[in-house]
Amino acid sequence: EVWNPNGKYRVVSTKPMPGTRWINLLIEQDCRVEICTQKKTILSVEDIIALIGDKCDGVIGQLTEDWGEALFSALRRAGGTAFSNMAVGYNNVDVKAANKYGVAVGNTPGVLTETTAELAASLSLSAARRIVEADEFMRAGLYDGWLPHLFVGNLLKGQTVGVIGAGRIGSAYARMMVEGFKMNLIYYDLYQSTRLEKFVTAYAEFLKSTGEKPVTWKRAASMDEVLREADVISLHPVLDKTTFHLINKETLSRMKKEAILVNCSRGPVIDEVALVEHLKENPMFRVGLDVFEDEPYMKPGLADMKNAIVVPHIASASKWTREGMATLAALNVLGKIKGYPVWSDPNR
Ligand code: DGY
Repeated sequence: EVWNPNGKYRVVSTKPMPGTRWINLLIEQDCRVEICTQKKTILSVEDIIALIGDKCDGVIGQLTEDWGEALFSALRRAGGTAFSNMAVGYNNVDVKAANKYGVAVGNTPGVLTETTAELAASLSLSAARRIVEADEFMRAGLYDGWLPHLFVGNLLKGQTVGVIGAGRIGSAYARMMVEGFKMNLIYYDLYQSTRLEKFVTAYAEFLKSTGEKPVTWKRAASMDEVLREADVISLHPVLDKTTFHLINKETLSRMKKEAILVNCSRGPVIDEVALVEHLKENPMFRVGLDVFEDEPYMKPGLADMKNAIVVPHIASASKWTREGMATLAALNVLGKIKGYPVWSDPNR
């Protein structure tokens, strides 16, 4: 699909993206916009090299694509200097290779913070109250009357939520769980989240002033403390060498037998084979996963586990957010092409 065929700068989007604002922004700045409409969900390096062609000023790409040497050198050969991932995470992008070929890289933080945190909260609640199992039970026609034991789950109020990685999304999730459900908070991050701490302190004061039991919070000195103390643990670190398989057989064994584990970050943060074993051995342990180690696949056995809720990497999938991500990605590429600052540059 081509917009503004006579535009001076050729910008390629490897996928159609929601909304039209991003297209209009590019057109207004004299870009010819080419959108790949191939049916194939995940494009190979060869597919993208073909899209880049002989002349290309910038590309908006997706987290499913492998943006390394091969693509950045092809983009450079085509005269391109700008690339943006339509995602906040950029573990699929070799920033060093981009720097080597003089291609600026952008990502899309901010607009997806609350949307992603809302999905982590939804998975936490769904796991705690066994929503998916109960829904399947109803649809199977198995409900034959109210029973005291039917789908008994956990009350979150007064339990402890553990957050591993308290950046933008982790902090937003923590605030939702503390304020929305009056959970106590324990978090682990290499950096101190002062805004989060101020928020929880003020909220605890507020509860006290109304005569309610105040929530408590603690910044853990080690991840271990979170694993041992939290009833619900949500993972929000970036994926890199230090966080690959952060959750493994050993770290899983330190969690409470009835804990809930939620992952809306990146799949490889969890050793999924070890997780399946753990779910089998601990039927009261529950997990809510938005991301998987080998997307789009799940490790054998995961789909059969009643104590797992699985959704297809939809944490940022709200209309407002996806349109915002597309717009930021376009702004990043435009910035470099037109000589404005790149809206969001992971190098900064
Ligand atoms: C991201 O932005 O990194 C998410 O995984 C998709 O929104």
